[in-house]
Amino acid sequence: MKLAEPLMTERLMLRTLESADAGGAYLAWMNDPEIMRYTESRFASHDAAALEGFIEAMNASADNLLLGLITADQGNHIGNIKLGPIDGHHQRAWIGIIIGDRARWGQGLASEAIDAVAHHGLTDLGLRRIAAGIYADNQGSVGAFAKAGFHEVARLPGWSLSEGVATDDVIMMRGGDL
Ligand SMILES: CC(C)(COP(=O)(O)OP(=O)(O)OC[C@H]1O[C@@H](n2cnc3c(N)ncnc32)[C@H](O)[C@@H]1OP(=O)(O)O)[C@@H](O)C(=O)NCCC(=O)NCCS
Repeated sequence: MKLAEPLMTERLMLRTLESADAGGAYLAWMNDPEIMRYTESRFASHDAAALEGFIEAMNASADNLLLGLITADQGNHIGNIKLGPIDGHHQRAWIGIIIGDRARWGQGLASEAIDAVAHHGLTDLGLRRIAAGIYADNQGSVGAFAKAGFHEVARLPGWSLSEGVATDDVIMMRGGDL
């Protein structure tokens, strides 16, 4: 799905991506092993055509909202956030985020974006529950979701292999009544 108007936060514009966004910085971070270390996307190698296809598929999908994180001051595309799949029957969705510019980690930008997209989902889209699945050793992600009002609701012991080592997956959730 596409957003008619971007979501604005203090330091970010969250907007629908276009095909032209597929190269450049986005392509570089998707192929950076350190950035992709805790994401499922690390198992694929990415080229501009694949990213363009992903953007088009997400924009055409009624069940996914993919947005770029654009710095409000300089207009740089520093990451992406995805709400989806969205399940309208159960009024729930998954959420995931990547900040591809390492120089911008630890500045609260992820929590700012997560909070804005979660709020959009829980109000404008009428969702009840938004959940994230996070490797327990990804402390930055656990911290960012906690700052954005998510709580750990479940832990799947040894669910994933992180660099060959069994790691728990933490399920963090936000909902109006949680
Ligand atoms: C995970 C990620 C989104 C975090 O982005 P970020 O902008 O640095 O996150 P924020 O600054 O909003 O919040 C991180 C919080 O966790 C804390 N934190 C960060 N790294 C930490 C660490 N190694 N140990 C403990 N806490 C940590 C921060 O201190 C911060 O909390 P604070 O402001 O109260 O101190 C970013 O590092 C990233 O995109 N990584 C690569 C992709 C990825 O792993 N995505 C998530 C997949 S589930």
